[in-house]
Amino acid sequence: MLRVRDATVTRWSSSLGRELRLLDGIDWDVAPGEHWVILGPNGAGKTTLMHLVGAMAQPSSGTVEVLGARLGRVDVRALRERIGFVDARLARSLRGSYTGLQTVMTGAFNTIVLQARRLAPAHEERARQLMGLVSALDLAGRRFEDCSQGERQRLLLARALMADPELLLLDEPAAGLDLPGREGLVAALVSLARDRPALPTATVTHHLEEIAPSTTHALLLRGGHVLAAGPVDDVLTSARVGDCFGVPVEVTGRRGRWAAAVEHA
Ligand SMILES: Nc1ncnc2c1ncn2[C@@H]1O[C@H](COP(=O)(O)OP(=O)(O)O)[C@@H](O)[C@H]1O
Ligand SMILES: [Mg+2]
Repeated sequence: MLRVRDATVTRWSSSLGRELRLLDGIDWDVAPGEHWVILGPNGAGKTTLMHLVGAMAQPSSGTVEVLGARLGRVDVRALRERIGFVDARLARSLRGSYTGLQTVMTGAFNTIVLQARRLAPAHEERARQLMGLVSALDLAGRRFEDCSQGERQRLLLARALMADPELLLLDEPAAGLDLPGREGLVAALVSLARDRPALPTATVTHHLEEIAPSTTHALLLRGGHVLAAGPVDDVLTSARVGDCFGVPVEVTGRRGRWAAAVEHA
């Protein structure tokens, strides 16, 4: 589903007067049915990596294959239609006056404005089914702007599934959620993994507590480099997570739920 080889992303910084390496020498493979968590401190390059594998950015060097298509050789617009994406920018750009149902239905053609004329009854049926999957059916008639942060994130998850994506990318979906909001999102991700077992997902977070128990793999990013990538139980060790965030931590994992506590001297 994803095959990234020695990928680098550089950007010119006019303030520094030199090239910045946002990602450096990235190798990453994602197979069907894998659920990845991407962890790393602020500025590690997590969003840049999501943009790269979401076909929203090109590698400066190296190769990126997404759903069998090599970036640079394919029409990225067609490729993007096969990828579900949720980030904070999307939440801000959607109309607050839309109902929950309308918000989800904008995902049918991945537009900000509802394409009412192109919508068929089957779209509404599908939207309601997906809202059921993420426990958001009771939000069908509520205005998006009146929904809590957690409710919005579940609606955006359902929205991202409307076009039946082959890959789902979530950039900090749990940011700013309270405990019930976070647990609602985690439960939605678990239901999704059960309902669509082959759909690969990658979720960016800063907090181990936000990792859904359906997660199979983890990638640790720091300073644009991959520190570790592989099965979640192998990667999320105290030593590796501590290295990644630059503080001594104790990582605990029980029944698929993870926690990290900083060890104070
Ligand atoms: N277009 C850009 N030009 C220059 N620097 C950028 C650009 N986009 C991001 N950066 C910098 O690259 C680094 C990685 O950014 P980002 O991928 O957003 O990190 P993360 O999502 O892990 O916090 C940050 O230091 C950020 O300031
Ligand atoms: Mg980011």
